[in-house]
Order: sequence, then structure tokens, then C-alpha cells
Amino acid sequence: MSGSRLPGQDQRPAVTFTFAGRPVVARAGDSIAMALWAAGERELRRSSGEGRPRGVYCNMGVCFDCLVVVDGVTVRGCTTTVQDGMRVERGGRP
Ligand code: FES
Repeated sequence: MSGSRLPGQDQRPAVTFTFAGRPVVARAGDSIAMALWAAGERELRRSSGEGRPRGVYCNMGVCFDCLVVVDGVTVRGCTTTVQDGMRVERGGRP
């Protein structure tokens, strides 16, 4: 399932960043987590125990399942706003 947007409904400026080397187009003001959700990305990192896929869970900065690495710094994807040109990689194991 893809988290698509309604065509023509969002008038905010486009922002382009990369995720795992792939370009992703978001809207200004989106969190990284929601931009990736809208782009169909569900796995943002792997769990520390069994290496299971983790993605957006609480979407409010509590669970840390959405950790990603932005230009070398680990952040929560749901509380970090996308910026044009940022380089986002899957997060490590906390
Ligand atoms: S989804 Fe829970 S902290 Fe981001």
C-alpha cells in the first residue's frame, strides 16, 4: 500500500531529499517520517534484538522506531522536518 497524496490538493512547495540514495519529493513542513510514508517507504531501521524491520509507530516522538540518519546524525523521523537536499539513511540499532 502506498501512502499517496491527493493530486492537486497540496499547494506547499516541493522539497527533494534522498533516502537510501533514492530521491524523494516531499512538501515543505512534512516530517521525514510522513514524507517517507507518502513515498511508500515503511522500513526506516532494523530492531537491535532480532533485526526486524521498524518504521513509523507512534508518530509523536515517543517510541524511537523511526530513527534515521540525516547527514550523519541520528534523529527521530517523526519529529524532524524535511529540508531540501538532506541525505537520509536508514537508522541504526539503538
Ligand atoms: S514513530 Fe515513534 S518516535 Fe517516531
